[in-house]
Amino acid sequence: MDGYSLNMETVSLNEEGTALRIIDQTLLPYETRIIELKETEDIWEAIYLLKVRGAPAIGVAAAIGIYLAASRIDTDGRDEFLRQFIKKKDYLNSARPTAVNLSWALERMERVVTSDPDSTVDELKSLLKEEALKIKDEDTQVCRRIGENALSLLKPGYGLLTHCNAGQLATTRYGTATSAMYLGHERGYGFRIYCDETRPLLQGARLTAYELKSAGMDVTLSCDNMVASLMRQGMINAVLVGCDRVAANGDVANKIGTSVVATVAARYNVPFYVCAPTSTIDPSTPTGNDIVIEQRPGEEVTEMWYEKRMAPDGVKVYNPAFDITDNELVSAIITEREIIRAPYDFR
Ligand code: MRU
Repeated sequence: MDGYSLNMETVSLNEEGTALRIIDQTLLPYETRIIELKETEDIWEAIYLLKVRGAPAIGVAAAIGIYLAASRIDTDGRDEFLRQFIKKKDYLNSARPTAVNLSWALERMERVVTSDPDSTVDELKSLLKEEALKIKDEDTQVCRRIGENALSLLKPGYGLLTHCNAGQLATTRYGTATSAMYLGHERGYGFRIYCDETRPLLQGARLTAYELKSAGMDVTLSCDNMVASLMRQGMINAVLVGCDRVAANGDVANKIGTSVVATVAARYNVPFYVCAPTSTIDPSTPTGNDIVIEQRPGEEVTEMWYEKRMAPDGVKVYNPAFDITDNELVSAIITEREIIRAPYDFR
């Protein structure tokens, strides 16, 4: 495999069914290292450290992770099995708070156990494996359909901007925001893709630019603060982003900086599209104000990527991993089922 080929799975169960297999995304684009994780603590850490990241990929990793944990619970008693299962599930769920896909996938796995009063513990373990693999396979289909729907809004030759990485690396295949880019590329649309580098963890530079370039697309990297410059010159015809959670009123949580892009897009009349699997819509969260935003260590801003620290010792750092884009800035939410426009009401 050459360094620019993404002919591998982002997140999967290994052939023996004994470990979560992921690309360690913290090492990209320099090194493509596949790692296998068996212990729940290691899977928790991989999610927390963003070795596996992006809302759908986190959901799949958690589903496989809880299956692996369940497969090692050593009891024949259903009640004891359920007790230990819930403990592991709650632990995995604590790895990151914002992407709803994490709790969505874990709850779906829990329903396998709670909705089947007759199966033995061994039978439950194999049902859990089936469900985890189903969650993974469904993600690929969902992303493909999001891409088809998004492509129906785009024209050949468009300049498209994306933020962070809502690509193949954030999902099982195609990505959400990038799915229409992949499909358009296959069909000769000749898109010009722009990706923000996405401070502070550089998912745009390290991951999106890497995977789109690997696929042979026309991709241009720019810093986050260059968005207005691009849009003012008319170089962007549409913005496509992914998301971590959509509130019932259509407010959207996505990577920090997304709301800046949306605000600038509104200023220059550029459509701002949010690509979201239906599972990312969270009717139980009324508005963006109710979404828990993950706060991350200040070192990601002051030290990471620099040879030496680039801020005075002891300075306070504000480092939220996500922000909320107000629903009025969202031109449409594109799911695998439909293209939804304001007024948004997902209650
Ligand atoms: O912190 P990350 O890298 O997990 O954040 C990822 C994003 O914000 C993505 O845009 C989102 O999860 C959608 S991925 C299809």
